[in-house]
Amino acid sequence: MSASDDSTQQPPLKTARLAMDQQVATKERAPDQQQQQTIEEEDESDSMDGDDDDEQMEEGGQPSGRQGGKRSRGKFRRPRNHVNPFSPFHQRPVDLEDRWPEKVFEKPSLPLHVDLGSAYGHFCMAMAEKYPSHNYLGVEIRTKVVEHAISQRDKAGQRNAHFIGCNVNVNLDRILTDIEAFSPPSPHPLPPSIATHPKCTTNDKTAVEQPAAGARGGVECVTIQFPDPHFKKRHHKRRMVNQQLVDIIGRHLVVGGRLILQSDIFEVAVEMRQLFDAHPAFVDTHAADDWQGQPDQNPLGVATEREKGRIANNEPVYRAVFYRVPYDEPGHDAATGGGREAEGDNWGEGD
Ligand SMILES: C[S@@+](CC[C@H](N)C(=O)[O-])C[C@H]1O[C@@H](n2cnc3c(N)ncnc32)[C@H](O)[C@@H]1O
Repeated sequence: MSASDDSTQQPPLKTARLAMDQQVATKERAPDQQQQQTIEEEDESDSMDGDDDDEQMEEGGQPSGRQGGKRSRGKFRRPRNHVNPFSPFHQRPVDLEDRWPEKVFEKPSLPLHVDLGSAYGHFCMAMAEKYPSHNYLGVEIRTKVVEHAISQRDKAGQRNAHFIGCNVNVNLDRILTDIEAFSPPSPHPLPPSIATHPKCTTNDKTAVEQPAAGARGGVECVTIQFPDPHFKKRHHKRRMVNQQLVDIIGRHLVVGGRLILQSDIFEVAVEMRQLFDAHPAFVDTHAADDWQGQPDQNPLGVATEREKGRIANNEPVYRAVFYRVPYDEPGHDAATGGGREAEGDNWGEGD
């Protein structure tokens, strides 16, 4: 019998008593715990209600008194479940301090893992604890959510995790360019099955076989996990993964670096996978239509909040893992993956 079944069997008095006990327990919880609880509840309800008709007030706009259709409680106002990434507020360039990577990371030269749409940052913080040899950067559009993630990171005293509140579709290129000044791209060896893939068109196999000596750096891994599906056709343009984002990741991920995609919405998973598969810089570890061969758990060994929810409900998760490969292209440095011009970069279009 499930917990909810059980509660319906309670005699009325006992049910009322239980409810009162719960209220008292909530009041007695430390304010910080209450805030955490509010945020955790909101996280689970995030963006999967199938209706992202989210033209409500933006962060930074006028207060609405209601967030996500529910009245905000206490001092902490629930962050919106969705934002419109095309609103002027979310189209602004992010305001970052000069030389910010050396201010936010204890060792800014460590290889970087970037998590796009990092929400409350649980995944990045768990990874940062597990792998102190790396820096973790979560980029999340809801700035209130990022404030919370940063406060949790500070409480944990982590110096290899950080969060930036902005729209990745506007700011990712700038963020990763800044990082590379402190953590220059350094190629990694590719698994043989990837190094011999026909998409590895470069003649410069040194990029594959001989990674640079010494400490490696650069953007070593990018994760895009359960991005908002924006189900309505007219909102598909709001989806985070588009051709421009794929191209930016292709420019910054080091040769041999990994891109990991996850979604619980098959259509979204297929769309993301096809976009990366069409780019010459990415090789899928499985055939693009092979969902049987996909990893049956998070390849990094740390589940995200949404992933935990799906697993607990025994619901499917669609995963794909790509490697960044070197490839020959005019003006492109195959060994480092750098050197392409951002403008006029229209690979795949009309080819
Ligand atoms: C469904 S949640 C998944 C959160 C987390 N990755 C997980 O797996 O638990 C998607 C997250 O992406 C964020 N997001 C959506 N569009 C974004 C954008 N353009 N830039 C940055 N973050 C975005 C949302 O605010 C939300 O926190």
